[in-house]
Amino acid sequence: MARLAYGGDYNPEQWPEEVWHEDVALMREAGVTLVSVGIFSWAMVEPEEGAYDFGRLDRIVGLLHGAGIGVDLATPTVAPPAWFYRAHPEALPVSREGVRLAFGSRGAICHDSPAYQEAAARITRALGERYGHHPAVVMWHVHNEYGVPVLECYCENSAAAFRDWLRNRYTTLDALNAAWGTAFWGQAYGDWAEIGPPRLTPTVCNPAQRLDYRRFAGDSALANFRRERDILHTLSPGTPVTTNFMVSPAQCDTLDYWAWGREVDLVTNDHYLVAEQERNHVGLSMAADLTRSVAGGAPWLLLEHSTSGVNWQPRGIAKRPGEMARNSLAHIARGSEGAMFFQWRASRAGAEKFHSAMVPHAGTDSRIWREVVSLGADVAALEEVRGTRTVADVAVVWDWQSWWAQRLEWRPSEDLDARERAEAWYTALFDRRLTADFLPPQTGPAKLAGYPLVVVPALYLTARTAGQHLRAYVENGGTLAVSCFSGIVDEHDTVHPGPHPGALRDVLGLTVEEFQPLRAGERVTLRGSGGPPLVADVWAETVVPRGAEPVWSYADGPAAGGPAVTRHRLGRGTAWYVSTRLGADGLDAVLAAACADAGIAPREEIPRDVEVVRRSGESGSYLFALNHTGADAKVPLETAGTELLAGGRVAGHLEVPAGGVRVVRLDR
Ligand code: GAL
Repeated sequence: MARLAYGGDYNPEQWPEEVWHEDVALMREAGVTLVSVGIFSWAMVEPEEGAYDFGRLDRIVGLLHGAGIGVDLATPTVAPPAWFYRAHPEALPVSREGVRLAFGSRGAICHDSPAYQEAAARITRALGERYGHHPAVVMWHVHNEYGVPVLECYCENSAAAFRDWLRNRYTTLDALNAAWGTAFWGQAYGDWAEIGPPRLTPTVCNPAQRLDYRRFAGDSALANFRRERDILHTLSPGTPVTTNFMVSPAQCDTLDYWAWGREVDLVTNDHYLVAEQERNHVGLSMAADLTRSVAGGAPWLLLEHSTSGVNWQPRGIAKRPGEMARNSLAHIARGSEGAMFFQWRASRAGAEKFHSAMVPHAGTDSRIWREVVSLGADVAALEEVRGTRTVADVAVVWDWQSWWAQRLEWRPSEDLDARERAEAWYTALFDRRLTADFLPPQTGPAKLAGYPLVVVPALYLTARTAGQHLRAYVENGGTLAVSCFSGIVDEHDTVHPGPHPGALRDVLGLTVEEFQPLRAGERVTLRGSGGPPLVADVWAETVVPRGAEPVWSYADGPAAGGPAVTRHRLGRGTAWYVSTRLGADGLDAVLAAACADAGIAPREEIPRDVEVVRRSGESGSYLFALNHTGADAKVPLETAGTELLAGGRVAGHLEVPAGGVRVVRLDR
């Protein structure tokens, strides 16, 4: 990126050409630097099979170029035209229930369809040949949000591809039968041809088969991404290729973004607030931190968010004045190289006409437009942060595959939810004013050692090596905090040998003799040395210390008298274990103790819900302060500096007005 990006999805095919000129003039007024074009334009550029009509796209790209606006040109492969499906109805995906989905929305794709793969490669090649060297095209946007609205297809093409994938993974049927535990319920396979996708079964389907199917489906989509990417790399050398992710677990639960992050030239993300949550800025921060982590800490780009309400949530809560800017600048604080929106101009027709946009239905005499123009100026004022990296205090281990596995049927309690735990622990860290990096579970001890504290909020599926790495991290002086129902199964959803939690027993210095799920609404009390009792629900365990010391114990409930929260000194470090579902106060109490072990000082001088994040790099060190409260706030400054949005010198402390944002370049 030559500049911080500001702009959005631009769908001019929905508008007559006169409007395009007005669009470009308004984009200049707002300081737009980049727009994503053509995401849904397949039917426009290839109205009949093999007959291309680039006239309108040429004019659009030319207009933008003339105005100095960069183009993030899309391959429209998320929305094949009607003629394609007429010729290839087998490319429509089939649901687990055996229903073939119909044309008439978007994303109706079987990633294993040879006809789709060929057609997608053809249109990608055609676009690459035509625009691969166009000076306006600064990035390629492949497809749109792989993984949604459907990832898994259960048709015969997919079944055949799944068998190939399995042969490749397991080589022999014996290995597959062992991995899937097919001795259970007499499911042994004697021939590869007997294996199918995990279609709807009378009762619970083999969980290892389901887990592998999710992995397989992700690999099929990734293969299609790679095919398009490689075509573009050849035809448009040097231009970065991306596809927009949705890494927030609240938004897309089907892809393992650790794998996808390695395949794109620039990680880009779409994020939508869970608008109804009172503190929805915490979920935003989590999504941004996770995106940066998927990018390996490198700069990334927020490719979509909303100027105000969205049409697809139960209630399209409008953003309050200042909220859009706070959201955008929070993403930038956490590593985004700009802020982009869905979409430029609100549609008049179609399914998304009630979605907010940079140019709303109300036009330019509107709050949203005025805020869009003002945010464009803010983004421009932050140009110098480009290329710097967000500084994290602690790490959180997160794994999509473990989450998929835990969510399959017949777990000990349907109330224990991995995503909820990850969000709860993240919130507790946020409330201690700590910035978190996320790490994949296979992270080695050298990388782990870069963090004084590592939190494992939900890692039901833990490979043995992951457990060994965490152990080495603690032995070498790290502080680890692990939440309940982690370390239980291996990559095939098979329980580790011996007592729970198999993969983490050694590092935690304990065994779990019995899970003790609580009744709906039941609560348990935990008492420790000093301090008020803690309250927990959903889950308890019979914990047997084997080296660990109890710090809080169950005062009541099914595990009464036994340890609830333990601490294990191992080598030069410490491992904490929380065997129940603690509420916010409980998590804070445990984190306070773990932070003390890790040497992380409390940051109580920063008011609650005033988000303070640092970006640092060659151009300088920048402190972002975002005030999500309704009261003016003061943030202590260690170093004097220059404020970049309101302007002026600051020293001692920084005043951040209610709902406002300040960014300080700290003196070196
Ligand atoms: C995104 C999608 C956009 C638009 C937006 C609405 O997930 O990529 O095309 O549908 O949601 O919020």
